[in-house]
Amino acid sequence: SAAEKGGYDYFMLKEIAEQPKAVADTLLGRIGADGQLTLDELRISDAQLRQVDKVVIVACGTAFHAGMIAKYAIEHWTRIPCEVEVASEFRYRDPILDDRTLVIAISQSGETMDTLMALRHAREQGAKVLAICNTNGSTIPRESDAVLYTHAGPEVAVASTKAFLTQLVACYLVALYLGQVRGTKWGDEIQSVIQELREAPKQVEQVLLTMEPVRELARSLADAKSVLFLGRHVGYPVALEGALKLKELAYMHAEGFAAGELKHGPIALIEEGLPVVVVVPSPRGRSILHDKIVSNIQEIRARGARTIVIAEEGDEAVAPYADHLIRIPVTPVLLQPLVSTVPLQVFACELATAKGHEVDQPRNLAKSVTVE
Ligand code: AGP
Repeated sequence: SAAEKGGYDYFMLKEIAEQPKAVADTLLGRIGADGQLTLDELRISDAQLRQVDKVVIVACGTAFHAGMIAKYAIEHWTRIPCEVEVASEFRYRDPILDDRTLVIAISQSGETMDTLMALRHAREQGAKVLAICNTNGSTIPRESDAVLYTHAGPEVAVASTKAFLTQLVACYLVALYLGQVRGTKWGDEIQSVIQELREAPKQVEQVLLTMEPVRELARSLADAKSVLFLGRHVGYPVALEGALKLKELAYMHAEGFAAGELKHGPIALIEEGLPVVVVVPSPRGRSILHDKIVSNIQEIRARGARTIVIAEEGDEAVAPYADHLIRIPVTPVLLQPLVSTVPLQVFACELATAKGHEVDQPRNLAKSVTVE
């Protein structure tokens, strides 16, 4: 009903708008006044966490993209090797697991059969399983050793939006907590990132307030045959997520690539007028990546691509090569997906609406996939 949608035409629009609150609720009570994380609910002792020598993340679809981003954060802040795999592939290749492996299963619904079967397999091999889940008392957290709930509230639209942002928050919390407990050379950075995480709800809000040009652009692209998405580092999974949203909602060919892979094949796809969305890493910190992606943008534009560039405020180097420039707030490098994903959700939702599609219930899809 209209009331359930809180005045929005679609649940997806409502859920996109709820993201600042969802992020704030997922942070609530987990950062102490002293700036230390307290994740007592984990039920895995600090001593056990210090024993962990490998992290394996399993998830599907959008939750898998959150897992890909988590890998960057976990390896950087904890120095523990981390793998991430789509849950449907996991158990069939006889993965190497033991009691020092921490498996993280990420699922909004907590009922995804592929993810459930992967976690059962992991537990049979003696691994500890931590669920990151949005649905209280669902099967995945019930069958896990521990759970960190995301507090996105109920997500109704098939396309995941607010659940994804809160999965990212939960993943960052786990990565930072593991780093805090184990003590790495990144202690000071961990402290400052914990502080910066508090700003995330405001920053997401700020992005939402500037989305009108993105909606206009999306409407103008309703007849495009294909859209490509490029990113690097944590922007790479964001590119994959942008493409998945467009497939699900607009039934369009859309593909995400690591920008460094362009020259190994995908650049052959570039032709006059092809829209290409580029998620640009921050020019601060890992600035070599920034420079490389700026050359990628030049290369594809020289071949006729229509460039849609998502870049941090103050990043002037990209401006001359952007046919459309979407600004996002300055964040720590690893946290950028919290803000860079939002324009891609809005883009896909608006483009699908312009095509006349039912965005809350895309064809052929179910909200939770309870078959393998
Ligand atoms: C996201 O937009 C999708 N509908 C889908 O990929 C989803 O993220 C996936 O099926 C996993 O669901 P879960 O988080 O409930 O396990």
